[in-house]
This record gives sequence, C-alpha cells and structure tokens, in this order.
Amino acid sequence: MRTDVLFRFRYQWCVVVLLLLVMGAAPALGAGNEGAAASARSTYDAKCALCHGASGKGDGWQAKIFWMKTPNLTDSAYMQTRSDDALFQMIKAGGNKGMPAFGLELTEPQIKDLVTYIRSFTKTPGLPKPAGAAR
Ligand code: HEC
Repeated sequence: MRTDVLFRFRYQWCVVVLLLLVMGAAPALGAGNEGAAASARSTYDAKCALCHGASGKGDGWQAKIFWMKTPNLTDSAYMQTRSDDALFQMIKAGGNKGMPAFGLELTEPQIKDLVTYIRSFTKTPGLPKPAGAAR
C-alpha cells in the first residue's frame, strides 16, 4: 500500500521540478536587449571596473597599484583603431599586459554584449571587419 502511493507520486515530483526549472529560466529568456545591456553593465562593474575604471578610462584601483597599461576605452581616436573582433578576442583570450582571459567564465553572447557596452563609452563603431574574416 505504502509503496503504491510513493510510486504514484514519483512522476508528479518530476513535473513539479520541471515547472520550477522552467520558471527559473523564464526571466533570463524573457530579457530583451535592455536586459542584455543591463547585465553587460553589471558584469562590467563586477569584473572589469577594478582595472578599467567604472567609466572605462583605465583608472581602476587594480590597474593603478600594479602599474598596468590599461587602455583608455573612452578615447574615441584610439577606439576607432580597434575592431570589434579585437575587443572580443581580448576579452575572451586575455592579453599579455595584464588583461585576464574571460573565455571560461563568460559565454560568447555575454562577451559580445560587453563589446557593445564598451563601444557605448565612445559611440565609435570601430573598424569594419576585414574581408573574409570569420566574425
Ligand atoms: C586585472 C586587470 C583587468 C581586468 C580585471 C580586466 N581588464 Fe581588460 N585589460 C587590462 C589590460 C592591462 C589591458 C591591456 C591589454 C593587455 O593586457 O595586453 C586590457 C585590455 C582590454 C581590452 C582591449 C582594449 C584594446 O586596447 O583593444 C578590452 C576590450 C578589455 N580589456 C575589456 C575588459 C572586460 C570586458 C573586462 C571584464 C570582463 C576586463 N577587460 C577586465 C586589464 C584588465
């Protein structure tokens, strides 16, 4: 008798768990462009501002105490010389002057949103991608 009841409820539990999972994922799926921009900003503030500075000038405290040559992401003349692809690759794979690689902790769409966010510091589109480039 007891095992009968347990057996009957086994599947109901699966449904409940599935429902909870779907509800948990719903806000993430529902987030449109605005959500992407907001989350790029909070990722930037949490992981990047310590070196790049909240406004992108490269004056974060960690850049200062380690004398890092952190690029000024608000310098339009400089940013125009950088392609989106170069920014993307730098975030994904890191650099040799102190920029850590974020390829393992951030997804490619998250990195793309960060590139868009960084572009918003100067409103410069950057170089057109070279002919035949993959991205
Ligand atoms: C520990 C300090 C540090 C942190 C944290 C950091 N950066 Fe950097 N970043 C640098 C330095 C230093 C460079 C200069 C390039 C190099 O290291 O070769 C750089 C370069 C870059 C560039 C390339 C700019 C150019 O000149 O083309 C981008 C884009 C960038 N960082 C974005 C980010 C983003 C987005 C984050 C957060 C997810 C981040 N960085 C976190 C230090 C940091």
